[in-house]
Amino acid sequence: MIIHKIYGVYFSPVKNTANVVKKMAQDLGRELNLPVEVIDFTTPEKRTGSWSFKEDDLVVFGTPTFAGRIPNKILPYVQTLFEGKETLAIPVVTFGNRSFDNSLIEVKNELENHNFKTFAAAAIACEHSFTDKLAKERPDREDIRQLEGFIREVAGLLQDINQKEDIISPVQVPGEHPLTGYYVPLGIDGQPVQFLKAKPKTVEEDCDHCGVCAAACPVAAIDFSDEAKVPGTCIKCQACVKLCHSGAKYFDDEKFLSHVRMLEENYTRRAEPEFFIGNEKREY
Ligand SMILES: Cc1cc2nc3c(=O)[nH]c(=O)nc-3n(C[C@H](O)[C@H](O)[C@H](O)COP(=O)(O)O)c2cc1C
Repeated sequence: MIIHKIYGVYFSPVKNTANVVKKMAQDLGRELNLPVEVIDFTTPEKRTGSWSFKEDDLVVFGTPTFAGRIPNKILPYVQTLFEGKETLAIPVVTFGNRSFDNSLIEVKNELENHNFKTFAAAAIACEHSFTDKLAKERPDREDIRQLEGFIREVAGLLQDINQKEDIISPVQVPGEHPLTGYYVPLGIDGQPVQFLKAKPKTVEEDCDHCGVCAAACPVAAIDFSDEAKVPGTCIKCQACVKLCHSGAKYFDDEKFLSHVRMLEENYTRRAEPEFFIGNEKREY
């Protein structure tokens, strides 16, 4: 076996990506009988160090799709915190049933720029952070069946090879090269909408000041001493809304809500997960 340890690495405000990456790393660990370590770089307090991986590690590296790409405020961390040493890597993205557009190719490119050797990749449709009308409770049993087929094929491939040169790398995934812009959100009337300044509001009588929202915010936008204040730049990830146990957080920005309505009107059809090994798209 040319690898000796598996890492699951993720940014994941609402935990879809965490669940997918952890399952992949743990299942691979079980199939290959190797130890597994999880690295979560979602919140600022978890991003105080940096990580160097060895030549005999395997890294499953995941982020969600935000506006068709790696979340832009998180890209600098992807670009500076992780370094491989010809380390085998599996880029993974989750997406909320619209499209992963260029997020998977961006993760793949960033890993390769940092001396990882990508050879397999996956884009997994998950419940959209903005609304449960898109991909509600996914990944579901059918998604998991396909994901497990992919994991078994990757494990078999790794068991069969004696040197990294036997593996086809880099993995080929769809997306633009070079990358152009981000997906421009549309409103219910089909026109572009900007909601960069939208921030979560707080129903103050429901807030018990537990601080969960401030601690969960990936960009430390929420004031720890008064959670109703949001002095930082919100990335709309919805972690505060989903993790607040009293349901005190909400968004009322008209343009943001118009975009959510547009998604609910147009993107309820089932988007399938996609899997790639070497230069082939694989189906399970
Ligand atoms: C700000 C933002 C932008 C998003 N943009 C897209 C997108 O372009 N395409 C898509 O299909 N899903 C999009 N999503 C949905 C997320 O990619 C999806 O829900 C993901 O699984 C969330 O990951 P997490 O649970 O790890 O935070 C977006 C979600 C957020 C919060």
